[in-house]
Amino acid sequence: MRVTSALAALAGLLASTANAAPDAQGTVSVMKTIEHTRFQTKTISKTYTASAACSASTVSSSSTTSLTSTIASPISSSSAVSSSSSSATSYPSTTYATTPAYPFCTSYPSPFASVDNVHPRLFNYNGTGAKFFAGTNAWWASHILSDSDLDTVFSEIKDTQLQVVRVWGFGSVNTDPGPDSVFFQLLNSTGSYINYAANGIPRLDAVVSYAEKVGIKVVLNFVNNWSDLGGIASYNAAFGGNATTWYTDTEGQQVYRDYIKLLVNRYKCSSAIFAWELANEPRCHGCSTSVIYDWATEISQYVKSLDSKHMVTLGDEGWFAPAGDIGDGSVDFALNLGIKTLDYGVFHLYPDSWGYNETWGSAWILEHNAVGAAQNKPVVLEEYGGPPSPDNHTAVEEPWQATVLDDTRLAMDQFWQFGTVDLSTGLSDYDIYTIWYNATEYAPLAREHAAAMLEKAV
Ligand SMILES: *[C@@H]1O[C@H](CO)[C@@H](O)[C@H](O)[C@H]1NC(C)=O
Ligand SMILES: *[C@@H]1O[C@H](CO)[C@@H](O)[C@H](O)[C@H]1NC(C)=O
Ligand SMILES: *[C@@H]1O[C@H](CO)[C@@H](O)[C@H](O)[C@H]1NC(C)=O
Ligand SMILES: *[C@@H]1O[C@H](CO)[C@@H](O)[C@H](O)[C@H]1NC(C)=O
Ligand SMILES: *[C@@H]1O[C@H](CO)[C@@H](O)[C@H](O)[C@H]1NC(C)=O
Ligand SMILES: *[C@@H]1O[C@H](CO)[C@@H](O)[C@H](O)[C@H]1NC(C)=O
Ligand SMILES: *[C@@H]1O[C@H](CO)[C@@H](O)[C@H](O)[C@H]1NC(C)=O
Repeated sequence: MRVTSALAALAGLLASTANAAPDAQGTVSVMKTIEHTRFQTKTISKTYTASAACSASTVSSSSTTSLTSTIASPISSSSAVSSSSSSATSYPSTTYATTPAYPFCTSYPSPFASVDNVHPRLFNYNGTGAKFFAGTNAWWASHILSDSDLDTVFSEIKDTQLQVVRVWGFGSVNTDPGPDSVFFQLLNSTGSYINYAANGIPRLDAVVSYAEKVGIKVVLNFVNNWSDLGGIASYNAAFGGNATTWYTDTEGQQVYRDYIKLLVNRYKCSSAIFAWELANEPRCHGCSTSVIYDWATEISQYVKSLDSKHMVTLGDEGWFAPAGDIGDGSVDFALNLGIKTLDYGVFHLYPDSWGYNETWGSAWILEHNAVGAAQNKPVVLEEYGGPPSPDNHTAVEEPWQATVLDDTRLAMDQFWQFGTVDLSTGLSDYDIYTIWYNATEYAPLAREHAAAMLEKAV
């Protein structure tokens, strides 16, 4: 899903995205202007305690103080411990070498999620054997500034029996937007600067912390294909290149890997991570499928080299190329599912913005299930959204959910997207696909479906 954010509005990008003509590939949604007051600054003041399960060697004694520090100074490439390849570039490395480890892993004593040994198309969520289940998306959870709001968000999602929530792990800017907007890295011609101020990395810490607290898991992704919240465009603005060359661009890929290293090392001891995701909806227009395939192979191997315990997935829309008639020919779902270091495949479903009818949605679901069956790997309907029928997506989305439930072995589906009216500032991010926690349709589309998925016989 392509989203437009308050951050984009602040950067003056809202007009250009909101006015974009709908096209056959990108999702263009009607966005409501979001009040800046929604993003109030709040300093994290609590002290997190490291537990025994998070080894002392990974917890820096300066971890607590760092939560209130400001944008870190870049360190020179030569002083970046274990950054073997960064010496090849003149760009300063991100500061992972001196980054404190996530200091409060494992308040949630569940095992990591994994692909189930007995039923390799399903997940073993918390060590109790294979289950089907449902999840959701709340991209904005890492981009709100209030801890108590996150507590509300995760409690409501937990209360619904949704097991997984996908959240943006990225947020990059080229110029500092000020303390009211969340961003994790600032990219400019002199390098990548990680934001450890209250509107930076501590927001991701809080997401992982509250997921642990309530006992659900998050999918964190590393970069956006779209320019919302920075994305590949923000790398290109700093280091040159374009949306096509980024996948092979030396500097861009180095900074991207450094950011991955930061996130993975920070949260790798937390069982609240469901999976790492390489990108949101990566595409490489005009490229052979080998570009995304090679990139996804190398990056997923890199993630596994940092963290062999958590699952990794790609984050693409699930295009079938070259035979399929959807997409730009650069993404081949079946080919990419063969990558050994990708644990499961994902696909998205937005027939209205792709020029298809709603009935076709169920066929799309069945096709992906068949590829999963052929390769004996888990496949997840990771985003789905019906067309604008405000406040009632039931007629469109219930049949898709029924297809997933009754006619497939898809391990999980995750509706786009969870919304709540219970934040201190009112509404969470609005888009036409949002299923609001207080809406009548929340019962069939979220609660009842989540319960039905959990009850489905393995
Ligand atoms: C997680 O574990 C509990 C038991 O501790 C079990 O009841 C529940 O079904 C498990 N959840 C999933 C999604 O497997
Ligand atoms: C890049 O951003 C950093 C952090 O704000 C700043 O110190 C540096 O001067 C910037 N470089 C350029 C070329 O603007
Ligand atoms: C991206 O850059 C490459 C290399 O300079 C160029 O060949 C290609 O046409 C560019 N693509 C776009 C869409 O500008
Ligand atoms: C996302 O993917 C499409 C297709 O390759 C491309 O046109 C677009 O420029 C990409 N990136 C951004 C930042 O939108
Ligand atoms: C929906 O689209 C499919 C394939 O794109 C087509 O076969 C079918 O007739 C369409 N159904 C309706 C009701 O338009
Ligand atoms: C939403 O749509 C469903 C299916 O068309 C219908 O049964 C239900 O009454 C509608 N709910 C509301 C609140 O309009
Ligand atoms: C949900 O809350 C919003 C904001 O308070 C309100 O406008 C809307 O009517 C509520 N919906 C329902 C179904 O109660």
